[in-house]
Amino acid sequence: LSNENNTMIAGNELAGKLFHHLLVNSEQGINALHYLQQRGFTNEMINTFSIGYAPDSWETLVNFFEKRNVPLDLMEKVGLLSKRDFDGKLFDRFRNRVMFPIWNKEGKVIGFGGRVLGNEQPKYLNSADSIIFNKSTIVYGLHIARPEMRKKNEAVLFEGYVDVISAWQAGVKNGVATLGTALTNEQAKLIRRNAETVIICYDSDNAGLKATYRAISILEANNCYVKVARLPEGYDPDDYIQKKGPEKFRSEVIIANQTTMAFKMGFLRKGRNLQNEGERMKYIEDVLLEITKLSNAIERDHYTRQLAEEFSLSLDALKQELYRIYKTGK
Ligand code: UTP
Ligand code: MN
Ligand code: MN
Ligand code: MN
Ligand code: MN
Repeated sequence: LSNENNTMIAGNELAGKLFHHLLVNSEQGINALHYLQQRGFTNEMINTFSIGYAPDSWETLVNFFEKRNVPLDLMEKVGLLSKRDFDGKLFDRFRNRVMFPIWNKEGKVIGFGGRVLGNEQPKYLNSADSIIFNKSTIVYGLHIARPEMRKKNEAVLFEGYVDVISAWQAGVKNGVATLGTALTNEQAKLIRRNAETVIICYDSDNAGLKATYRAISILEANNCYVKVARLPEGYDPDDYIQKKGPEKFRSEVIIANQTTMAFKMGFLRKGRNLQNEGERMKYIEDVLLEITKLSNAIERDHYTRQLAEEFSLSLDALKQELYRIYKTGK
């Protein structure tokens, strides 16, 4: 690592300590602390995930870095400071936000996600991509989840920091997340190095379901054994934990996970009226196409029989159709 990289990381580490101190020990942090407490964050969560607060000020961080001789230009590069257009004066980029540190594999702070305390936009502001911070390669929470991931040979993949932290408090300690971007091969490989089974637990809204579909194929392409959590529609994992409690979350959402095929069948059913003959036929075709993609012959057999039974079709006809799809690819 070059000197410059080390300085950028050291600056992030220092900022993380300041933000955490301001949240838990200062008058300025009281609103943010109340906001977190209202959302069910315990001291244990705040400490384990080193959550902090960036005050409602333009120069707290600038002055802090100046005093400690941290090069301001590098702090601009990592996105903690911004430059005013008309005179080049530097100012704090994160203001009045709850700060979630983001770590590299070694557990060093390389960036932040900053959340507004209300409903303003953007809800989350992330550190700028730089030589030390590349969103598409970061797996949030990895160094905290790693021991449990290895022990269970299993990871739970979430959409956001809050879900990871909330699930951790609910006893699911092998949770990680991507940073609001689609899962990449690089992230999948990093997860796979620590666990074989991955339970996807994205938000149960349209965007989350689509992202789940996509994440399944990326994880499977990287030799993960993939399952999908059973989160009822409209919830995100943190909402569910706050409303239904940790036990229900563990037993009915995480442990009661479904196979990727069961998830896909549910997804393909959505918005279709299977009483309607045409829509039913389309659904059956879509499921058959998914069956042809299964590499395991026993699974193929299982789901083909299930389909035959549910819709009172002959197994022979379904097998002929599967064969046709194999040959034509559609
Ligand atoms: P969500 O909108 O689902 O946020 O985005 P959340 O995690 O449930 O957050 P809360 O509960 O409202 O506090 C999921 C993830 O997408 C990224 C963040 O990483 C977030 O955790 N995101 C979202 C952004 O980077 N920017 C945004 O404006 C919104
Ligand atoms: Mn602490
Ligand atoms: Mn979401
Ligand atoms: Mn969410
Ligand atoms: Mn949420």
